[in-house]
Amino acid sequence: MSTDAETIRYRAAAGESPAAVDLLDQTRIPAELVRLECTDLAQLHDAIVRLVVRGAPAIGIAAAYGVTLAPIDPASNPDSIRQCYYDAIEYLATSRPTAVNLFWALNRMRGIVESTEDAAIGELPPRLIEEARAIHEEDREMCRAMGRNAAPLLRDAKTVLTHCNAGGLATAQYGTALAPIYYLHENGHTLNVYADETRPLMQGARLTAWELSQAGIPVTVCTDSMAGSLMQRGLVDAVIVGSDRIAENGDVANKIGTYPLAVIAHYHNVPFYVVAPTNTFDLELQSGDLIPIEQRSEDEVRYTLGANSAVHAEGRMAVPREASVINPAFDVTPAELVAAIVTEQGVIERPTREKVQQHFAAITNP
Ligand code: MRU
Repeated sequence: MSTDAETIRYRAAAGESPAAVDLLDQTRIPAELVRLECTDLAQLHDAIVRLVVRGAPAIGIAAAYGVTLAPIDPASNPDSIRQCYYDAIEYLATSRPTAVNLFWALNRMRGIVESTEDAAIGELPPRLIEEARAIHEEDREMCRAMGRNAAPLLRDAKTVLTHCNAGGLATAQYGTALAPIYYLHENGHTLNVYADETRPLMQGARLTAWELSQAGIPVTVCTDSMAGSLMQRGLVDAVIVGSDRIAENGDVANKIGTYPLAVIAHYHNVPFYVVAPTNTFDLELQSGDLIPIEQRSEDEVRYTLGANSAVHAEGRMAVPREASVINPAFDVTPAELVAAIVTEQGVIERPTREKVQQHFAAITNP
């Protein structure tokens, strides 16, 4: 991806110009490539809510940089400075509820605030920038590792199907579910990809199709309702998706429409793979029914491309006013439907609570 298409950039304050979190505006892709500079917390919060930046890891990275935009007064006392950062963290945490990466990244930033003593309070702003940059860079490396770890699962595949966007646009680079597709492509094995359009906001049609095309990977957009028929006709060798939160028992929350895909894949004996970094696991939640599911504006369903809401200003009315609308943004796929979860640390085949616990135990005690 060219530098212009980098998902997130950070510009430190210099002279008169304030610090900025500079985002590729994903609500405009593929119509145009424009960037949005957020120089205060409210702008960044709004950008996360509107999906200017979206995808679990990218939300975490953007929010981490966002903490550095807290309006601190360097002349005030250490407790007030710390409180200002805590308030910023609390506020950014209210932007979106499902992707646990947001809270994970904000907790890392909180750790820096907590561990900076009064005598070093002047060092806090650069330390926070350094931590956000580390979170950003680590994500790039984890995506690369996930690509390497998941690639062998697709060695014999010709065509895969994915849902939503779990690519470079959703992460620092490479993506999660798309990372093995890029990795294999670089190593001479180019897969054909079906991208579910992903109603209602069309992340698959707009974003996955755009970024795979940029990389020269053949991609065919299908409506969400076509996936079953494609599998029935033997046209899909594997389904591969990302995740916003994985419970301790291996249940996986991802974009609405993922669960029915897993059910159809199971029926057709097509392996259903989930690729996600370890910071997408929420080991405090014993099962997927405890994962909070974001409910978004009904206008995203009422109007094509979500007029008056996240994506497009000129959508057409698609639902009569008299009808009510529901718009949960995510669903939960039970672990028993998952062939493997791939992290930057390795592969959890046929995930269960015990195997998830073993995966994390091996990281803590290598
Ligand atoms: O609402 P979005 O676009 O933020 O939803 C994104 C997804 O559901 C992705 O599949 C998930 O965050 C994994 S991204 C690597």
